[in-house]
Amino acid sequence: MSKTLLVISGGSEAIPGIQRAKAMGCRVVVSDQNPQAPGFAHADDQLIASTYDVAETLAAASHYHHTIGAIDGVICLATDVPLTVASVAQALGLPGLSIDTAQRAADKLLMKQCFVAQGIATPWFSEVESAQHLAELVAEQGSDLVIKPVDSRGARGVLQLSAVADLNWAFQQAESFSPSGRVMVEQFQHGPQISTESILLKGQAITPGFIDRNYEYLHTFAPHIIENGGQQPSILNDKQRRQVSNLAEQAAAAMGISSGIAKGDMVLTPDGPKVIEMAARLSGGWMSSDQIPAATGVDIVGAAIKLALGEPLTLDDYQATQYRGVAIRYFFPPQGRLHSIHNAEEAAAQEGVYRLGFFASPGDQLAEVTNHTQRAGYVITLGDNCAEAVAKAQQVVDSVQFEVE
Ligand SMILES: Nc1ncnc2c1ncn2[C@@H]1O[C@H](COP(=O)(O)OP(=O)(O)O)[C@@H](O)[C@H]1O
Ligand SMILES: [Mg+2]
Repeated sequence: MSKTLLVISGGSEAIPGIQRAKAMGCRVVVSDQNPQAPGFAHADDQLIASTYDVAETLAAASHYHHTIGAIDGVICLATDVPLTVASVAQALGLPGLSIDTAQRAADKLLMKQCFVAQGIATPWFSEVESAQHLAELVAEQGSDLVIKPVDSRGARGVLQLSAVADLNWAFQQAESFSPSGRVMVEQFQHGPQISTESILLKGQAITPGFIDRNYEYLHTFAPHIIENGGQQPSILNDKQRRQVSNLAEQAAAAMGISSGIAKGDMVLTPDGPKVIEMAARLSGGWMSSDQIPAATGVDIVGAAIKLALGEPLTLDDYQATQYRGVAIRYFFPPQGRLHSIHNAEEAAAQEGVYRLGFFASPGDQLAEVTNHTQRAGYVITLGDNCAEAVAKAQQVVDSVQFEVE
């Protein structure tokens, strides 16, 4: 195969996917706004265009396609830009999601409206017009609600209203993270949270990604909702897993994803599974590139690349061949100026430590963690089972020391 794949985003988490496409024999063109994007070093060619700027990426991709070399497929890696991907795919006649589907994936209100219209189990929700409107909704519904921007990510501006004293502040927070200035609330869902990652083939979902999310710090970080990693295999029983996977398949169908990747934020509530949101792309955070393949043997990034190029998948592309324990945990050092990090190299060299990295470096000012982009670093560990992987991750988190002034 000597096809050209356009990868949207050249961030560091895109690198394993860029390398995977290269190993599959593709010519890889990477687009990113940042001329220093680390992914460019692994690409055959580069386009400078903001991943979020549909028109800019479209213009750069069209120009490349018509004057330099034909593009055969387009995908985003470790970035949430379904509309950019779908617009390029449509303009260049490549496989991909419809613009309608991409719009639903990029707008939580459109997504939820589509879920409700098609009978998909999702929490009660409402758009919020103003802080005054929020107060009215809380008076009607009670405060067991989550407020969030309609179109952001990384848990930015996502707040548990039960832990908020000032509703004006909560509204402003959520609004400040919405590019379109729109805010919504939904009922908080109680129960185990699961990340699913499914491969859709002609409307049928195979779900190799099934990860229990860790929310041990829900109270510590309240009203912010901060995830401290996840682990697999899931502790859910077969029946529960089937219920959650079936809901993921139905939610993907409702959104119009019949071929491609769908990543779900799911909660197994006492009333059965509910979907919080569904992204029409591969996961970031080393989940699709590292955690899922390490746990199950499924090369979900490779499968997504094939789908983006319009190639057929075989059983080998999506069938799990193993069930190993894999865990990820994050580092949460105290606030202040980061002076140094100790024991990281020793920890990274230990058996069972798969990947360890930091988002903060010495000299950085560590602020209060209010969304997922502010976590200081992570460790991914392996074990014969889930408990072993989790214990190893915990041990690494305890052993790495952050000197903060
Ligand atoms: N209604 C809800 N009930 C329980 N948890 C929620 C709810 N809404 C959001 N969360 C938690 O907050 C996280 C971030 O919210 P989400 O809507 O997925 O926004 P983002 O696009 O930033 O990921 C979710 O993954 C989930 O863990
Ligand atoms: Mg989410």
